[in-house]
Amino acid sequence: MLAGKHILLIIGGGIAAYKSLELIRRLQDQGARVTPVLTKAGAEFVTPLSVSALAGTAVHQELFDLTAEAEMGHIQLSRSADLLVVAPATADLMAKMAQGFANDLASTLLLATDTPVLLAPAMNVRMWEHPATQRNLETLKADGVSFVGPNEGSMACGEFGPGRMAEPDEILAAIAAKLADGALKGKRILVTSGPTHEPIDPVRYIANRSSGAQGAAVARALRDLGAEVVFVTGPAEVRPPEGVQVVPVESAREMEAAVQQALPADAGVFAAAVADWRVASASDRKLKKSKDGLPVLEFAENPDILKTVSQMKQGRPGLVVGFAAETNDVIENATAKRKRKGCDWIVANDVSPATGIMGGSENAVILISDEGSEEWPRMGKDEVARKLAERIAAALAG
Ligand code: CTP
Repeated sequence: MLAGKHILLIIGGGIAAYKSLELIRRLQDQGARVTPVLTKAGAEFVTPLSVSALAGTAVHQELFDLTAEAEMGHIQLSRSADLLVVAPATADLMAKMAQGFANDLASTLLLATDTPVLLAPAMNVRMWEHPATQRNLETLKADGVSFVGPNEGSMACGEFGPGRMAEPDEILAAIAAKLADGALKGKRILVTSGPTHEPIDPVRYIANRSSGAQGAAVARALRDLGAEVVFVTGPAEVRPPEGVQVVPVESAREMEAAVQQALPADAGVFAAAVADWRVASASDRKLKKSKDGLPVLEFAENPDILKTVSQMKQGRPGLVVGFAAETNDVIENATAKRKRKGCDWIVANDVSPATGIMGGSENAVILISDEGSEEWPRMGKDEVARKLAERIAAALAG
């Protein structure tokens, strides 16, 4: 998969550095050549010897290493790679990159390069959530830097939350996606997926039967064609694909905010089953049984994310694809929906219980565009996703 590719792997200082040793092996298994760079802090966590033994080549550590300067030079070092990967990427390294500092080998390489860069951040939850780090994250994203993780989970420091470095498998998939010479290389695509949960009170919510399978399959297929995918997902049953930027949300309003945050994008695929309504005033305390009768829930309308994005005056993605879940008169309803929302395409499907489509592994869709409707035979959701990704690639190329 990565045969002939050259990865410059910068190992920063974090407990997750041990996972980068595994990453070196996995990259080599895929046929990639790895040139390792170990920061001073990184060397506190893994030894230069283990890194160079695994990589089968010398590990670079010093900016002013005369031999290296004479043989290759630090500029050359960063430019000869197909991709620069920083794993773990510490808060400090991100801050240096965002500000353009070049006061050690790693930061100098990152500043001196025009090669694509992928970061796998790892840090304490508070550090990750700190406004300074979040600001740096936004700056780096705007500079075109890609990210994999961090994941949420319990951390070595005993806290819980986002900050764990992505697993080697995930980083590998993200690397493969970055280096894929696919038709969507260089394109950024937003995908929404899964159901939303609309709270009634802190323990109860209103949801729907979407498993998130079709959205995840679309994200994977787009990734496989080389797109940079931002995957905004409600609480789905299926795991998000690896190698995409996952933004987990719960409610429709959170999903809308995440979508706005993820723009601009070359295309948006709105596969989420967004709840049309939310409970108007969700209680912040658990509702109790009462002698006064049953609770009455009042509803408020949720934002229509697809419609909002389709009708954006500025920064609208070049191609906006919606899904239509219908139970009757599929083509008529979906055609009207496409007009009403203002999206370019609608992928319509019949979700009547008898079809077994909602929550199942197959789908039978009709693609509706300004050219009319095109019925696709019933096929696996993965296949629908691949076909759709190819169509998107063709549309963005044309
Ligand atoms: N959608 C959205 N935001 C909403 C509702 C729907 O972004 N609040 C998107 C879905 O992701 C999907 C498309 O709109 O791409 C159509 O969703 P669907 O539930 O079929 O349509 P609705 O707008 O809810 O229309 P209706 O319930 O009348 O069929």
